[in-house]
Amino acid sequence: MKPNRILRKAVLAWVAGTGGGWAFAPPVVNVPDPLSRGEYEIIAQNDLGMHCMNEDFSELVILPPYNTVRAQVIQRRREPDIVTDGLTLRYGFPSNTRSADKTNFWKYCPQIFGVTLPPNVGLTGHGMTGTLDALPREGVWEVSGIPITPFDDRGRLQPYPLITIIALKDGAEIARTQTVVPVSQEITCNLCHVTPGVSTATDILRDHDRLHGTTLEQSKPVLCAACHADPALGAEGNPELPMLSHAMHGAHAARMDQSGLDNVCYACHPGIRTQCQRDVHMAGEVECIDCHGDMAEVARPSRMPWLQEPSCGSCHARTGFEFEEPGKLFRHSRGHGGVACLTCHGSPHAITPTLTAVDNAQSMRVQGRPGTINDCLVCHTRQPEDNFRHRLFN
Ligand code: HEC
Ligand code: HEC
Ligand code: HEC
Ligand code: HEC
Ligand code: HEC
Ligand code: HEC
Ligand code: HEC
Repeated sequence: MKPNRILRKAVLAWVAGTGGGWAFAPPVVNVPDPLSRGEYEIIAQNDLGMHCMNEDFSELVILPPYNTVRAQVIQRRREPDIVTDGLTLRYGFPSNTRSADKTNFWKYCPQIFGVTLPPNVGLTGHGMTGTLDALPREGVWEVSGIPITPFDDRGRLQPYPLITIIALKDGAEIARTQTVVPVSQEITCNLCHVTPGVSTATDILRDHDRLHGTTLEQSKPVLCAACHADPALGAEGNPELPMLSHAMHGAHAARMDQSGLDNVCYACHPGIRTQCQRDVHMAGEVECIDCHGDMAEVARPSRMPWLQEPSCGSCHARTGFEFEEPGKLFRHSRGHGGVACLTCHGSPHAITPTLTAVDNAQSMRVQGRPGTINDCLVCHTRQPEDNFRHRLFN
């Protein structure tokens, strides 16, 4: 069997509960009765299906802990309202309340990012609890840069922790939800970068120094984006040098045979234990390269990393249906009356229904079944007489 098929079988077995139960610490999922609907509904999603962070910040740094969650509050009416004022939205992680003792990010942050942050507070000033900001023009509430790690408070691996978000009006709770805030440290450079006696990071820095005449090994901790531009960090880098994504995918394209993997993307993206992609597409065998192209395509210099990504509309065509807003990513687009694509479909790479039960829990809560939010009464108080329109919001 090809490694991908073994992986998929393992995931399916795990999800079905036949694989010996949870491989990771299970978060607590609350599934109230979907029929006891109130005046307000809240649905939240992480903006990416997976956020990667480095495991160790003492030598080399690609990505810090940084998750972003977007929520929409809908006032249920015959014609629903999307509410972005007059409320307070609080968040917290019941099983993952702190990060500072789970990573050395805070120790090296001043050297790497030039700021000293209080423990458990991330690069945008948000912590492990707090409130979401309203973005009225987008019809959403957002908290960016949550510094969550993939370990619960008992130290167990938990790459799909749940955030709880509670909407309050005049101090009283009007709605709450839970959603997965996925995070992984599975950037497995050590598949190939192994030299006995030195760390993987040192091995990488030495290769870089030898091949490109740099002195990175003496300058630890090294932020790759200090020289190679990285839109994920808003880092402009040195304009003479290739952007980080172009450099990494381009230089490694010809080395991938060494990984022994059928899906070469898993050499550096999660992965082998954690699933960045775990959605309806994976179940249908639509894989990384079907949407993104191969290493060389990801490295194509005319493609802007992080900002030019595949669109749903490049594959899906359906009469009367519109997909992403022109020039916007899926995660920022809205359709049907201003409802975000994320709200009805889930995070990219975790498009519902997913292979992981925990990612389906929110759909289960609001409509009693996994998959796209397609029960009109989640938002409308009466079954609309007109047909559903899958149109852009403008
Ligand atoms: C499939 C094997 C493989 C994996 C996985 C891999 N590398 Fe490499 N990498 C190589 C090889 C081979 C070289 C070249 C070494 C040499 O010529 O001495 C290299 C070189 C490098 C270099 C030197 C610069 C250059 O010209 O490429 C950097 C930096 C680097 N790798 C970073 C990484 C990082 C970061 C990761 C994980 C995110 C990673 N590599 C994962 C195989 C791999
Ligand atoms: C001090 C600046 C500097 C830093 C920091 C830096 N690089 Fe580089 N990198 C360079 C230079 C210079 C080159 C050579 C570029 C060229 O030849 O066009 C290079 C080349 C590369 C290449 C090969 C690109 C290619 O097309 O062959 C990779 C891969 C790479 N760097 C990855 C990394 C990674 C990963 C990090 C963080 C661990 C990093 N770099 C940090 C300056 C830097
Ligand atoms: C050798 C390691 C390595 C391999 C293999 C790899 N990636 Fe990446 N990838 C990275 C790193 C490191 C980043 C983060 C770059 C950054 O922060 O800008 C990244 C970021 C990305 C991004 C976001 C940035 C962008 O360019 O839009 C995409 C998309 C991506 N990878 C797709 C892929 C796909 C598809 C494959 C398989 C064909 C793949 N990667 C294989 C190392 C790798
Ligand atoms: C069904 C199509 C599809 C498949 C399959 C897919 N991606 Fe993506 N990917 C996307 C879309 C769409 C985006 C942009 C999402 C957005 O708007 O935020 C994206 C964005 C990304 C990014 C940028 C960060 C982010 O999450 O937005 C990375 C990295 C990435 N993909 C890697 C991968 C890897 C690795 C795989 C395979 C394990 C993969 N993708 C499989 C469609 C896909
Ligand atoms: C590379 C092409 C490709 C891209 C890009 C893509 N899809 Fe798909 N999608 C497919 C295919 C093929 C299937 C059928 C999979 C199967 O066999 O079950 C599918 C199935 C689905 C389904 C299941 C219901 C159905 O219509 O079959 C949903 C929902 C879906 N995609 C949503 C999305 C969303 C949302 C995006 C953008 C974030 C997206 N897709 C991007 C190819 C794609
Ligand atoms: C109010 C909920 C809702 C919103 C908002 C929404 N969708 Fe959908 N979407 C659906 C439903 C329901 C279907 C499935 C229709 C069916 O098959 O009956 C669907 C189907 C899809 C499909 C699969 C189409 C196919 O080939 O059958 C894609 C792709 C998709 N949506 C992308 C998007 C994008 C992109 C956005 C944002 C611009 C978006 N959706 C916004 C509810 C929504
Ligand atoms: C996630 C919330 C949500 C769901 C689920 C939802 N709607 Fe809506 N719908 C809205 C919002 C918000 C509006 C905008 C109301 C306004 O214009 O004031 C709207 C407007 C409408 C409208 C009138 C405007 C238009 O775009 O045509 C119709 C008809 C409609 N919805 C039908 C449906 C049907 C049928 C379903 C179930 C298949 C459905 N909706 C599911 C949120 C939702």
